[in-house]
Amino acid sequence: MYLKNVWYVACTPDEIDGKPLGRKICGESIVFYRSGDGTVAALEDFCPHRGAPLSLGFVRDGTLVCGYHGLEMGCEGKTTGMPGQRVGGFPQIRRYPAVERYGFIWVWPGDAAQAEPNEIHRLPWAEDPAWAHGGGLYHIKCDYRLMIDNLMDLTHETYVHANSIGQKEIDDAPPKTVNKGDQVVTSRFMENITAPPFWKMALRGNGLADDVPVDRWQICTFTPPSHVMIEVGVAHAGHGGYIAPADRKASSIVVDFITPETETSIWYFWGMARNFRPEDEELTAKIQEGQGKIFAEDLEMLERQQRNLDAWPDRNLLKLNIDAGGVLSRKVIDRLLAAERTSSVGQPIIPIARASEAS
Ligand code: FES
Ligand SMILES: [Fe+2]
Repeated sequence: MYLKNVWYVACTPDEIDGKPLGRKICGESIVFYRSGDGTVAALEDFCPHRGAPLSLGFVRDGTLVCGYHGLEMGCEGKTTGMPGQRVGGFPQIRRYPAVERYGFIWVWPGDAAQAEPNEIHRLPWAEDPAWAHGGGLYHIKCDYRLMIDNLMDLTHETYVHANSIGQKEIDDAPPKTVNKGDQVVTSRFMENITAPPFWKMALRGNGLADDVPVDRWQICTFTPPSHVMIEVGVAHAGHGGYIAPADRKASSIVVDFITPETETSIWYFWGMARNFRPEDEELTAKIQEGQGKIFAEDLEMLERQQRNLDAWPDRNLLKLNIDAGGVLSRKVIDRLLAAERTSSVGQPIIPIARASEAS
């Protein structure tokens, strides 16, 4: 159960560099490629001739060519040519709205008539030279909501990421969770603690001592349909923590775009944006490597959790205070799913009434 009349991250520009990319998103098999004018095209991954996946073909002069018998497909989904054939009567295939923005390619898997590019999640740091970003992509066999749960409850760091970002003080600092319209924010603050290994590395990367006590924060923000941005950082203790001056802290934004592939699998675009030493590519690579290892640790846990849930679908799960972020995010998703269903039969969408609080 996922929203379809929304924008998801589909891929990154390097994935369609000179070749088509086939990717299933929200159950839709889609082929992405760069068309003749340089814009991104997204079409049904289905050749109208004999049903071959168009993504197995190639791009010639901006035209997608089927790899089976050479049918040429236009970026609107209409066949433009085929060796030895008249193509005028060939059926059109589906086109999906796609936009390249902020270093990602976004797709709207639902009703194309409702697609509005202004609704793409805003990433101001992606257009600001004072910031650098590095990231990657994992395919994970789990319901996208399990990943939202994971990112909105960072108590798991103590156990899953014991050697990098985990520390027992996380358990001792209860999170606070609030609704802000359609967003959910879970925050946790820790004071006067030792920085864990990943953050020692980041402190050194910013030219700061790594052997002094620090204040640490984690502010996780869920935005529908499935984006989680996490403001994280450490500051030398006693300088204001989250609001400490830039020369006393190492902070960044953990960037998580979770794109459902099917009901039980996701494309997980992870990354980190930082505004210290943005020109230092070596540091970007180091952070990327560290973060990639950390997120790989979640992978097995989530896939095995999904298998357990598949095996026992009727078992009730507990909802503890640490689960509030995921629970409230699911409520937002459920409300928007109901609205999407209603709007598809011509009824108005009901906006959220007011912010509420839970902890
Ligand atoms: S299946 Fe594509 S050209 Fe024949
Ligand atoms: Fe994790």
